[in-house]
Amino acid sequence: MGVDQAAAFLDQALELTARSPHTPTFVEADVHELPANLYEAFDVALITIGVLNWMPDIKAFFAHAAKTLRPGGTMVIYETHPFLEMLDPESTDPWRVASSYFQAGPVVEDKVIVYEGQGEANGVTSYWHPHGLGEIITGAIRAGLRISHFSEYPHSNREELYDIYEQGYWDVPMCYILTAIKM
Ligand SMILES: C[S@@+](CC[C@H](N)C(=O)[O-])C[C@H]1O[C@@H](n2cnc3c(N)ncnc32)[C@H](O)[C@@H]1O
Repeated sequence: MGVDQAAAFLDQALELTARSPHTPTFVEADVHELPANLYEAFDVALITIGVLNWMPDIKAFFAHAAKTLRPGGTMVIYETHPFLEMLDPESTDPWRVASSYFQAGPVVEDKVIVYEGQGEANGVTSYWHPHGLGEIITGAIRAGLRISHFSEYPHSNREELYDIYEQGYWDVPMCYILTAIKM
């Protein structure tokens, strides 16, 4: 079962499903208004790349996402690292710190978001909400989750632009895996 609020994203999921031996189902829903039949329905909830920064209130996000787990179920998060919010890969000096780690969001953009190559046209306005690791971990704990694993990695799981930080002088934290168990 996969959940996303965007019909176009779910269409793409169905295209991929057609090429896979698995038969997942998909639900179009805002995570803040999940259908009640998803409550306590799963042993594992997986949140992958590029989700948490679209959430204006990280505590509210965790409270809603945690509802999908049965007691003892595990939330697994594989996300981009908040450290990268301080760097600008398009800057003339991409290794220079460009923003505060503790910046108050949202970062408002009207550029098309692209994951490979460059975007050319203007798109709809988007609101990116930086959240530090402390906020993320506290959000999970407040939602009744017990952190069971946390590890950081120096490889990129972001847009291609960020690949430059894999080949620099220093290893920087680029992504992380966090697992947490519903009490
Ligand atoms: C960067 S994409 C995630 C891509 C996916 N994790 C992957 O790796 O392919 C972010 C997704 O979050 C979805 N999204 C953002 N806010 C949401 C919300 N409030 N409820 C449900 N889905 C949301 C967007 O529609 C978008 O498909």
